[in-house]
Amino acid sequence: MAKPRFTWAALFVGGHLTLSCALFQRDLLNVFGWEDAASSSFVLSWMCLSTRFWLSKGRRSIRMKALILVGGLGTRLRPLTLSVPKPLVEFANKPMILHQIEALKAIGVTEVVLAINYQPELMLNLKEFEKKLEIKITFSQETEPLGTAGPLALARDKLIDDSGEPFFVLNSDVISEYPLKQMVDFHKAHGGEASIMVTKVDEPSKYGVVVMEESTGKVERFVEKPKTFVGNKINAGIYLLNPSVIDRIELRPTSIEKEVFPKIAADNKLYAMVLPGFWMDIGQPRDYIAGLRLYLDSLRKKSSTKLATGPHIVGNVLVDETAKIGEGCLIGPDVAIGPGCIVESGVRLSRCSVMSGVCIKQHACISSSIIGWQSTVGRWARVENLTILGEKVQVYDEIYTNGGVVLPYRKIKSSILKPEIVILPPRLSDSLSQKPVRDSDSGSCEAKGKMAKLRFTWAARFVGGHLTLSCALFQCDLLNVFGWEDAASSSLRLSSMTIYQVVVAATRDMGIGKGGKLPWRLPSDLKFFKEITSGTTDPVKQNAVLMGRKTWESIPVRYRPLPGRLNVVLTRSFEIKNEANVVTCGSISSALEMLAKAPYCFSIDKVFVIGGGQILRETLNGPRCDAIHVTRIETSVECDTFIPSIDFSMFQPWYSSPLLVENGIQYSFVTYVHVRNSEDGTIARKTDGKCNDVKSNSNGFEVENFSFLPKMIFEKRDKYMPHSRSIK
Ligand SMILES: NC(=O)c1ccc[n+]([C@@H]2O[C@H](COP(=O)([O-])OP(=O)(O)OC[C@H]3O[C@@H](n4cnc5c(N)ncnc54)[C@H](OP(=O)(O)O)[C@@H]3O)[C@@H](O)[C@H]2O)c1
Repeated sequence: MAKPRFTWAALFVGGHLTLSCALFQRDLLNVFGWEDAASSSFVLSWMCLSTRFWLSKGRRSIRMKALILVGGLGTRLRPLTLSVPKPLVEFANKPMILHQIEALKAIGVTEVVLAINYQPELMLNLKEFEKKLEIKITFSQETEPLGTAGPLALARDKLIDDSGEPFFVLNSDVISEYPLKQMVDFHKAHGGEASIMVTKVDEPSKYGVVVMEESTGKVERFVEKPKTFVGNKINAGIYLLNPSVIDRIELRPTSIEKEVFPKIAADNKLYAMVLPGFWMDIGQPRDYIAGLRLYLDSLRKKSSTKLATGPHIVGNVLVDETAKIGEGCLIGPDVAIGPGCIVESGVRLSRCSVMSGVCIKQHACISSSIIGWQSTVGRWARVENLTILGEKVQVYDEIYTNGGVVLPYRKIKSSILKPEIVILPPRLSDSLSQKPVRDSDSGSCEAKGKMAKLRFTWAARFVGGHLTLSCALFQCDLLNVFGWEDAASSSLRLSSMTIYQVVVAATRDMGIGKGGKLPWRLPSDLKFFKEITSGTTDPVKQNAVLMGRKTWESIPVRYRPLPGRLNVVLTRSFEIKNEANVVTCGSISSALEMLAKAPYCFSIDKVFVIGGGQILRETLNGPRCDAIHVTRIETSVECDTFIPSIDFSMFQPWYSSPLLVENGIQYSFVTYVHVRNSEDGTIARKTDGKCNDVKSNSNGFEVENFSFLPKMIFEKRDKYMPHSRSIK
């Protein structure tokens, strides 16, 4: 890109129009290899026109903005998107979206707005690229899916300024050579309101075809899945729009392809530019692998030094410099090996993407597959035919997988002979417990270690004891993930909200705060709070802490977000906090629903509601409250914020510490567990599954059923509770 920029500079300074234009054209031919495009007189004419435009506009630099449509759950790319949002899944060793941001930066775009509606706190990780790339990255968060046009209306204030410059809109799934500078020139030259990039396809009948005037690029109409041939160019998902286009879009779920573009075309103000070079929508595994081939092919033409060389390399191969390749391997064509990978001796890899931290053992053979982060492929294993391994999957020695789609953390101990989705018990559960899950808790008990589809009960063990609910949620999610809605609708009626525990310090009359602060100074209580809310049964997960906006604000800035936990802040103003590991929610139910769904149900271990008064008034004795951990302040302290009393008809003490004293305050730690069914019958801890009165049958409760409690509490019970044996 350096050369074309230099050429433009010369053009601006000197104004030698003809010469500069010719130089520029020649440069592009060299850089992008567009011999076909160059032969078209149309390309020549718009280049010259655009040059004139730039001269007439003066010598000011371009300060353009762009919006990338990031929304969507990325279900087609699961199981990879169970670990990270789709735009952060690596493609050719860097997050997909980074390819686009870098291309935008390269042509002088100064600000990129990411239109997000999913895992906003994870997308905030992209902020780290702001500094590296020297480009401003902001977020526009949908609270409901707004389609492909609604997000533009939502981000209106971010996109429009007084410069009047057009802005780019990119679909985050698309990978191409991004000829964005040429698109700017094209746009300025035709003088219309909007430009779209189109790409040629072999089978136009499968797509929405853009019918356009070949000589000018003016779009005449769109034909959805044409039965007879009307053209072979389809929307490539890259647009350049004048600010006035936003005036055409209402803030509601709207389709830019179906509702906005046809109207602009009807006004003769929509133009299409044929995209030179490759293009691929990499939103699903088959296309991802095909796109990798096209990308590496293009990389060979543009900067072949980035590709690996050597006697063990065949064709185009990208290897991160930190990856280690053993003796006697044969790698390629069309392979990307990410950072920290270990490829042992004698391995054969072709047409595959190996993500960071993967270990491929001796003589394994992988083709046409994607190997998720930190997975292990055993010796002499053969992985092929669009096998997709999620994060940290372990394929045992000599295993054959033919098109298996394997969820994260699974161990593959027997071969997968035909393409199927493999939902085995997660690996971690093996180490947690070897006992089968009870029917009474899960509604199903069929997996028990065998390879099987949809053995939901294992999910319950995975999340450490939230049996009924987790099982249900996992089931729901899997059904959604793979599009088995029918199965979902015919299955049990499943809850869509997660369960939680409360952690609070309260006086005898349930005072919890004064003047927006804690009215006592108890470092050991803060330590207890940190330990209980941070500890997880699964080392790769974290807990979530739910709090009201005022409680969030009461935490000193230097201590927030509370580290190592997902901070969920409840506020009705829906402001997204510009920080990693913080997410805002507009209601308690939406927060609990969000945490119950993928991917949170896979990455979050326990959910703790931590205050303050307003939040606890709605959650303390709620049907989904599994346990209440109270630091009981025995000394009288004045408060102005209070919570309701604990309902002892529902909560039974589990653990109580001896009376302690600190800074003249007497206090003790007490944990109560939810021991009887709430009215909606969602939580039952009885081993016999009957919903009897607690007092009459407390001997029937099984301690093990409370293993969802934080370990430090679960284990302490025997030590402190006088009646522990009777409850056992
Ligand atoms: N002792 C303890 O363990 C403990 C723990 C935590 C807090 N505290 C104390 O409690 C006090 C703060 O409690 P508080 O009752 O004043 O405030 P709070 O519950 O922390 O926060 C209230 C705010 O949360 C948002 N909110 C409330 N209900 C909501 C709902 N259903 N959906 C969405 N958002 C909702 C609203 O934010 P918007 O106004 O932004 O919409 C509301 O103003 C402080 O003194 C603090 O120190 C004590």
